[in-house]
Amino acid sequence: MTFVIKVNGSGHNVDGDGDTPLLWVLRDVLGMTGTKFGCGMALCGACTVHINGEPTRSCITPIDSIGKSEVTTIEAIGKTPAGAKIQKAWLDREVVQCGYCQSGQIMSATALLASKPHPTDAEIDNAMAGNICRCGTYVRIREAIKQAASS
Ligand code: FES
Ligand code: FES
Repeated sequence: MTFVIKVNGSGHNVDGDGDTPLLWVLRDVLGMTGTKFGCGMALCGACTVHINGEPTRSCITPIDSIGKSEVTTIEAIGKTPAGAKIQKAWLDREVVQCGYCQSGQIMSATALLASKPHPTDAEIDNAMAGNICRCGTYVRIREAIKQAASS
C-alpha cells in the first residue's frame, strides 16, 4: 500500500505495510538518519520526532496512524524558533558526549520549550524523563534548556 506522509514540510510517497514503524521509513526509505534507533520499545527516547508538535516515539508509531499529520525530525527542528534556541544552547553548553541520544533529547526539549517557554525544574524533569542518556549528560541538558528559556 502507498502512504503519503508529510515530513519536514514535504510530502513523500511511501510503499509498505501500514504497521511499518515511522522510524524505519525515516531512516531506511527517506534517508533521514538523524533520528536514532535505540530500544525499539518506546523506552529510551532516541527515536523521538514531533507529530503535530508533540514529541512522539517513532519506533512504535505505525505509518498508517500518521494520516495528514505533520512530522518534524531533527533535520528540520532548527528552523523552528524553539528548536533554534535549543540547538544554540546545546552547542554553547557542549551538552553532547557520544551523541547517540542527543537528537531525541533535542526533540523532547524543543517540544517542552515550545509549549512552556519558561519551564520549572520539575517540568524539565517530567518532559525529559523518557529520554535516556548512557553518557549521563543530564546536568548539561537541564542547563541548556534553562539557557534556551532565558534567551
Ligand atoms: S528507539 Fe524508540 S524509544 Fe527507544
Ligand atoms: S550523549 Fe551518549 S548516550 Fe547520550
